[in-house]
Amino acid sequence: MKKQYIIGNWKSNVTVEEAKAWMESFAPAFKQLQNKLHETTVIISVPFTDLYPLKELINEHSIQLSLGAQDVSPFPEGAYTGEVTAQMIKELADWVIIGHSERRSLLKEGDEELSFEVMQAKTHDVSVVYCVPDEKTHIPGNVDIVGYEPTWAIGTGKTDTPENANSVTKKIDVSSGINEIVYGGSVTSKNVKEFLQQDYISGVLVGGASLDPQKFIDLIKQATS
Ligand code: PGA
Repeated sequence: MKKQYIIGNWKSNVTVEEAKAWMESFAPAFKQLQNKLHETTVIISVPFTDLYPLKELINEHSIQLSLGAQDVSPFPEGAYTGEVTAQMIKELADWVIIGHSERRSLLKEGDEELSFEVMQAKTHDVSVVYCVPDEKTHIPGNVDIVGYEPTWAIGTGKTDTPENANSVTKKIDVSSGINEIVYGGSVTSKNVKEFLQQDYISGVLVGGASLDPQKFIDLIKQATS
């Protein structure tokens, strides 16, 4: 089986108490799946407030689940009220999602700010999942994974066709030289396999279906079957 990534994204959902309950249900089921993961890396990207308690619970359950943040400050430490630096994230998580379309459209994050975010993350050894809505959007150097997410497919229940997603990822691969490209947009346990079977797709970015621990387990089961 080729190397693949399943990346959950809780977005602005899940309080600390809810995160604890999620993990109590997820961890035992995930533990049973672990010997089937092989080349599959599972990452869950959560609100900053959930990182610390989840890190503790992951250690307690000793499961191979990686943690990610969903944003990082474009600045180093200092007088930047409200910002969370890459150095702070690195204590708790190995990954960060940068450039998600919700941050581009709702928070007006543009290419320049996003490239500073990537620079900060990489300076502190936080791996980057960099999201783009198409093959034309600029991708900064040295990101680790690109997430191709057509805006119209996010949270709508409508996916891109696996064939078109494959041809877009192929173009991204050729123009950026990055081989790890995941598809995101209404991925569920029912359609995940079709995307993973495509040559240029190395995984999936999963919003809605990662919020329910059982649905996320079902999706991981399908992906590793
Ligand atoms: P969705 O979100 O799976 O709910 O469509 C995907 C994403 O925005 O990363």
